[in-house]
Amino acid sequence: MSPSHGKIGILGTAKGEQTILLQRALKARGAAVQIIHPKKLSCWLPGETVGVTAAEETVRLLDLRGLVVRWLPGGSLEQVVFRLNALHRLEQSGLRVINSVDTLERTVDKYYTTSLLASTGLPVPRTLVTERYDDAMRAVREWGSVVIKPVFGSQGQGMVRVDDPNMAHRVLRALEMGRYLYYVQEYLPHEGVDYRLFVIDGRVTGAMRRRSENWCTNIACGGQAEPFEAPDSFCQLALAASDLLGADYLGVDILCSEGSPYLLEANGIPGWLGLQTVLKCDIADELAAFILGVC
Ligand SMILES: Nc1ncnc2c1ncn2[C@@H]1O[C@H](COP(=O)(O)OP(=O)(O)OP(=O)(O)O)[C@@H](O)[C@H]1O
Ligand SMILES: [Mg+2]
Repeated sequence: MSPSHGKIGILGTAKGEQTILLQRALKARGAAVQIIHPKKLSCWLPGETVGVTAAEETVRLLDLRGLVVRWLPGGSLEQVVFRLNALHRLEQSGLRVINSVDTLERTVDKYYTTSLLASTGLPVPRTLVTERYDDAMRAVREWGSVVIKPVFGSQGQGMVRVDDPNMAHRVLRALEMGRYLYYVQEYLPHEGVDYRLFVIDGRVTGAMRRRSENWCTNIACGGQAEPFEAPDSFCQLALAASDLLGADYLGVDILCSEGSPYLLEANGIPGWLGLQTVLKCDIADELAAFILGVC
């Protein structure tokens, strides 16, 4: 029998803080857990229906009970495409992957997420995604103040707020040299406050208010978590996003500007360390209960 038989796999590293919490919670509920490093996948063809193995231990991932994706590292185009397609093949062969590969693809790229949210009329800030410098400059001129973000989000890091066309020129030209896309979003005025809602299985499990001295409220950028009872209107937005993206669980950022809420982000591999500090329920345990219920 394969050493992975009946275990819950976590795609991540043994050092990942959420991976550690989830592993502990799954074990506390009686499940065996195997951590699989996403850079160690090997697919042996033909032969086994899906021969995806974690190299050193030759773990047959198809023998797992389910696989929770906690880390999809960046890399070259071929590395990223291979990892996603290996997950697709596992899913096609019957392994439950959480979040599903479709959901991961819909949430890993900010353009795709925002576009899907906008397509059903959910409120998102005006956004331009382009490789064209001229179009990006036009957006800066038209919107006055913008946030230029990396398309693959990184906890608020690497985002710049620009309200001067000269500064925009410098930033856009520098990004061009790195062969980055331009993800330009209108800056929505706010007082250094936004909200994170955590959805599991179509239910808002917890929420926090993030407050910062800065316009970027991410905890990683110095934002502070505060307890928050999300109103129905926020919960409905978060649940609509989760439903649309087909998510098993999801982190949703909502920003209120001039009295209206906007969906800023939907994260298919959301962290919860900051959120947990202001919650009574245990997110890792709620997630473990969900995972064991569906795998
Ligand atoms: N258009 C905007 N107007 C005003 N503030 C913004 C805007 N976009 C982002 N912010 C601020 O920056 C923070 C981070 O933005 P966002 O959630 O889009 O990226 P991220 O957290 O880096 O993405 P990821 O979680 O995928 O790493 C928001 O929580 C908010 O405080
Ligand atoms: Mg965010």
